[in-house]
Amino acid sequence: GRVGVLYGGKSAEREVSIMSGTGVHAALVSQGVDAHLFDTGIHSLSELADAKFDRVFIALHGRFGEDGTIQGALELLGIPYTGSGPMASSLAMDKIMTKRIWIEADLPTPGYAALLDEQSVKSAVDRLGLPLMMKPPHEGSTLGIVKAVQASDAVGAYRHAAQYDDVVLAEQFISGRELTVAILGGGDSARALPLIEIVAPDGNYDYQNKYFSDDTRYLCPAPIEPALAAHIAQISVQAYRALGCEGWGRADVILDAAGKAWLIEMNTSPGMTGHSLVPMAAKAVGMDYPSLCMHILSEARC
Ligand code: DAL
Ligand code: MG
Repeated sequence: GRVGVLYGGKSAEREVSIMSGTGVHAALVSQGVDAHLFDTGIHSLSELADAKFDRVFIALHGRFGEDGTIQGALELLGIPYTGSGPMASSLAMDKIMTKRIWIEADLPTPGYAALLDEQSVKSAVDRLGLPLMMKPPHEGSTLGIVKAVQASDAVGAYRHAAQYDDVVLAEQFISGRELTVAILGGGDSARALPLIEIVAPDGNYDYQNKYFSDDTRYLCPAPIEPALAAHIAQISVQAYRALGCEGWGRADVILDAAGKAWLIEMNTSPGMTGHSLVPMAAKAVGMDYPSLCMHILSEARC
């Protein structure tokens, strides 16, 4: 049947989604799928209904794409879609709600405060210590994130993050190795792909280093002893299941110098660009990019 690749959209990650969507579209076409690009930033919901897709591949990132809204619309339209449902999508899109769920499930995630105003910055610094990451809780691709190293940086970092969101996540900074864990499947069958370690040029895996730098190095499988790697894969799958994720996703993890792994966030519609991580992890188990796209599409449901 007809497959729509939903891409573009209206979020701050539009540019990333255009790279993901065009990649997925070309891969599906190469496999003989009758796939069509559909930009949700340009076309309306009624045009989506009129497009008569039998299934859609969601290659959108961020708001209105990864946050449960389009998933809810597709449920109403009765069109099977890739990835997590509305609830898991909206939980995972909110880094504060994600932490609440993980803490309740006894999963390791750095200490945090939810800041509603500038006045609460000082008490967060007093309670959590420094450095602190100030994050807009509903963005992806590192957008709006600033590290406050000194107390005098904290308000400025808060103000920067607050430009993107009404509430700001202040999170204890964990110094360590940056890892990511791609996950495929849902429920009992959710499984982790080999871990990836990210070595960014200046230790700073920001928007530029994510999508445009050729100096960022990726090690897959990450050079981590097998028992620890298995533990990290296991908590990542638990974190995914705690949120109710399905289809596919990617957990970001930091491994500190003492060997403790900390869950940072879950991405329910991870990047599928030429620099992206899930395709890299899939390749390590012999699944090339078109096969990965076909696999994700095969699990589409509503
Ligand atoms: N938010 C970007 C697309 C990612 O997680 O890959
Ligand atoms: Mg993210």
